[in-house]
Amino acid sequence: MPYPFRSPRVVVRAGLPLVIAAAVIGGIGLSTMRAQDTPRPDDVAVFMRAKLDHAQHVFAGLALADFDRIARGANELALASQASSWQVLQTPEYARHSAEFRRSCESLRSAARAENLDGAALAWMEVTMKCIQCHRYVRDEREPESN
Ligand code: HEC
Repeated sequence: MPYPFRSPRVVVRAGLPLVIAAAVIGGIGLSTMRAQDTPRPDDVAVFMRAKLDHAQHVFAGLALADFDRIARGANELALASQASSWQVLQTPEYARHSAEFRRSCESLRSAARAENLDGAALAWMEVTMKCIQCHRYVRDEREPESN
């Protein structure tokens, strides 16, 4: 039999890189398609839920006066607010809510770095107010008559 059928090992050796190459190229194709789309609802839900984890770290950090934990949680929240999955609505108000949220996270992080527990607790209340305000805004935008 002519090559490549003579030896299954040759076929495997030649075939595996091809499969990998196809998977990589396919993966790149898919991810560029995804990048052009608005974020998928599933991804957004997972992403948004992760905020609760970060928030829990901050809260635990405040309860235990663990300033590293507070600062890390605040940092994760500030970073999340800059990710593409965060940009659910393309309105100036949403951008303003996001910017205010990020500023509060940054105050929280500064207070934690200064090991100022009262300042951090106060900044945390500000952050949670921003969570609530942005969610109210998003609800109002989507279903104006339900609030
Ligand atoms: C600037 C706006 C904004 C801020 C600030 C914000 N969120 Fe959200 N959040 C959203 C949007 C938009 C959604 C809904 C995404 C969707 O369903 O389309 C959401 C959804 C969620 C969800 C539901 C996820 C799900 O579908 O199960 C949780 C939980 C959540 N946010 C937690 C928080 C917490 C905690 C904070 C504050 C630490 C916060 N968010 C701050 C915009 C915001």
